[in-house]
Amino acid sequence: MFESLEMTHPDPILTLSEHFMSDTNPRKIDLGIGLYKDKNGNTPVMESVRIAESSIVDRAVDKVYKGSSGLDGFCDVISWLLFRARSNLIEYGRVLSIQTIGGTGAIRLAAEFLKQINPKKGVWVSDPTWGNHIDIFSHVGMQVSYYPYQEIGGDLNFPVMLESIRKIPEGDVVVLHGCGHNPTGFDLSKYQWGAVLEVVKERGLFPVIDMAYHGLANDLCDDVYCVELFSDHLDEMLVAYSCSKSFGLYRDRVGALVVLGKSRDSCVKAKLHLARLARVSISSPAIHGALIVSEILSSPDLKRMWVGELNLMSIKIKAARKVLINEARMQGCDDTFRNVCSGVGLFSLIPVGREDVGMLREVFCIYMLDSGRINLSGVNNNNVGYVVSSIKTLLGK
Ligand code: LMR
Repeated sequence: MFESLEMTHPDPILTLSEHFMSDTNPRKIDLGIGLYKDKNGNTPVMESVRIAESSIVDRAVDKVYKGSSGLDGFCDVISWLLFRARSNLIEYGRVLSIQTIGGTGAIRLAAEFLKQINPKKGVWVSDPTWGNHIDIFSHVGMQVSYYPYQEIGGDLNFPVMLESIRKIPEGDVVVLHGCGHNPTGFDLSKYQWGAVLEVVKERGLFPVIDMAYHGLANDLCDDVYCVELFSDHLDEMLVAYSCSKSFGLYRDRVGALVVLGKSRDSCVKAKLHLARLARVSISSPAIHGALIVSEILSSPDLKRMWVGELNLMSIKIKAARKVLINEARMQGCDDTFRNVCSGVGLFSLIPVGREDVGMLREVFCIYMLDSGRINLSGVNNNNVGYVVSSIKTLLGK
């Protein structure tokens, strides 16, 4: 049976990360997978996470199953983290969360749910977007189409994006990046979010907001602007929340799918359906990481500590953008890095071709995605000169 299988390609992001880890060259630099890195290029366990983890391990009395929707306490703290400024929605029962296997699991659950409710509807993602969006929605059988976002090597093309969203068939699903757009780093301004909301309302589109970088674009409040705005004006939407980056819990696989519904009843129904879907795929999610997150968010001291750590990470990413652009200016190739100035969050796209990316990896041991996406937190004072000069040499600038 397996002989008849067609060859398929391994996942480009995870494979690149594996290649990086097995590279023995001490000069290697990882600008690939979306991991936050400190000034030494490491991804340490956050101190708040370490304290919360040791406390839950000490207190553990059993490891029995939880239900398909995960840990209730975790679901509640995530709803509050996102909707703190709209607490009335939580009190009315219009917001409910279900625990998922990271943000990816949340997107997957959303896709299965939306396909089940309305099998004929298509889904629209930004061009470019995180590659797994396309794979996940296609995998559940949804037709995936694109709305333009960034022109190659250029800026966010908002007028064209908006016009394209205006032409989306009524009732289709539109995926929006809540903050820290992956891969461009270009986020919408408040005014632009308002304009998108108007079109979403006009066309009756169903928004799925991917919130994978909460707190890392600007801060915890600013980064949920679109969630708050949309929830003020829409009856329904889904938010896919990841704890991978904001809590550094990458391999613990913690996330949530947050449902905004019209009424308490409709939210309860939606959550039951989501739990059914979870039951037939994962049965119930792993609880360890969810316990850590709920421990942090329900303890004022730990929460304060976590917010402080997250803010420092966000500041460090902004500083890395400056370091890179200053170095590029000094080396006279700032044009190549001009998107870095205007972006936020972990990522930027630099105008290099697939072959250039291969050369950078083979010759200079600098790892980035084939699209030219770089993870800014991988750039630091020690490696910035080498990163810029290698790219400059390669592009012959
Ligand atoms: C990324 O875009 O690098 C991250 O979201 C990791 C992943 O799962 O792709």
